[in-house]
Amino acid sequence: MSDSATSLSLKASLAAWRSPLSRALHRNRSKPYSRYFQLATVHSDGRPANRTVVHRGFLPDTNALIFVTDQRSQKVQDNQSVSWAEVCWYFTETREQFRLAGRLLIIGRNYPETALTEARLTTWRNLSDATRQQFFWPHPGQPRGPESDFETKDIDPDQPPSTFCLGLINPDTVDHLELRGEPQNRTHYTRVDDQWQVSNLNP
Ligand SMILES: Cc1cc2nc3c(=O)[nH]c(=O)nc-3n(C[C@H](O)[C@H](O)[C@H](O)COP(=O)(O)O)c2cc1C
Repeated sequence: MSDSATSLSLKASLAAWRSPLSRALHRNRSKPYSRYFQLATVHSDGRPANRTVVHRGFLPDTNALIFVTDQRSQKVQDNQSVSWAEVCWYFTETREQFRLAGRLLIIGRNYPETALTEARLTTWRNLSDATRQQFFWPHPGQPRGPESDFETKDIDPDQPPSTFCLGLINPDTVDHLELRGEPQNRTHYTRVDDQWQVSNLNP
């Protein structure tokens, strides 16, 4: 496992872009869809892939965004170890876009680092029962099975199934575009040796 895949190397003080992103989440909180972002990855044949996922907060003491996903899904199969991803996140109330690019880590049941498997368990405990049920559905992306495959099950909130994965995105560049303002504002953040460099760009 490369060093960039350890929770030790994820540890970081609050990045400069966290404050504008927290502000956007707060100001757009009346819109439930403000918690959804688009996650772009690359298929194993080099083609782009994009989908919507739910933001589940940040891994404590890091700047890594959390989402949950299914081990059997294409995005996991395409990104088995450490790979790259970009998030695109638009907030409709405040009319601003964040693009966050960096390493994508998939933390499954056998991930070789206790701190991250514990984070996986904590996230599982915090999910609604309806969301947990989805991890017991039949294989995503395969031909639709009978209704009986989707029957509600009794689920142990302390025992995530092997299908359940934590996704972590650890950004190294962030581009923030604010449409409000005349002219618009665009701020670029780049991580260099664990320091964030901030620059104002033309929109
Ligand atoms: C509003 C919304 C929220 C979603 N949230 C998630 C999520 O948190 N995790 C997830 O794996 N898929 C989520 N999905 C489904 C994905 O967009 C996608 O269809 C699915 O994960 C399969 O993607 P893949 O084939 O690229 O792996 C969501 C879809 C929508 C429309």
